[in-house]
Amino acid sequence: MGIEMNIIEAKDYKELSRKVASIISAQIILKPNSVLGLATGSTPIGTYKQLIEWYKKGDLDFSKVTSVNLDEYCGLAIENDQSYRYFMNQNLFNHVNIKMENTNVPNGLAADTEAECNRYDQLIENLGGIDLQLLGIGNNGHIGFNEPDVIFEKGTHVVELKETTIKANARFFESIDDVPRKAITMGIKSIMSAKKVILVANGSGKRDIIKKAIYGPVTPEVPASILQLHPDLTVAYCFND
Ligand code: F6R
Repeated sequence: MGIEMNIIEAKDYKELSRKVASIISAQIILKPNSVLGLATGSTPIGTYKQLIEWYKKGDLDFSKVTSVNLDEYCGLAIENDQSYRYFMNQNLFNHVNIKMENTNVPNGLAADTEAECNRYDQLIENLGGIDLQLLGIGNNGHIGFNEPDVIFEKGTHVVELKETTIKANARFFESIDDVPRKAITMGIKSIMSAKKVILVANGSGKRDIIKKAIYGPVTPEVPASILQLHPDLTVAYCFND
């Protein structure tokens, strides 16, 4: 293919988090008004902790940063501790000097979801696109909530979550019945248009899907495989439990 990717193999979760945080902080130092594409899930928590630590030491300034999150569950209020807005506030935004009005997460309560999807795409476009997109990967290869499909969906859209995703995410909810069945996610076009992409995976359970995604055929059945075509992709992982 001729497109290179950077691979970072970390020995443990701490090292993984520190390295990913280093890349994000270099981005903010080099371009203080960066647009950061952010992810939720368990994997980036250590990265966010590290960024908070460096911010508290005075090494990082988020005052000019704008963030756009990948996704949000439909039907959860932002006060719900399972909403992705709540997650971002708790795990990053409340602890650094990012301006809350410069943080963006799709509105999972929007009555008109189509209008909300259009608004989100327009917002990203108006910001001039994403400078650095952080991504986790689902066990089924999803990025954001772009689930395995027969096509790559370009724009922000509403998805029906797959059974595998509902099961994987049930660990955060009281019961599997509480896991929302739908979500709004950024599409493949915004992700692929980001100037830099970092895909992060932690734990032995992610080994097979990472191999498939970065060395297997590019197919919407494994949404993350499209990243092989991104000109500035870094894949950072730790497969040790
Ligand atoms: C989260 C997101 C998801 C997660 C993925 C991996 O905003 O978009 O794609 O990144 O499900 O989740 P963890 O990190 O919990 O394994």
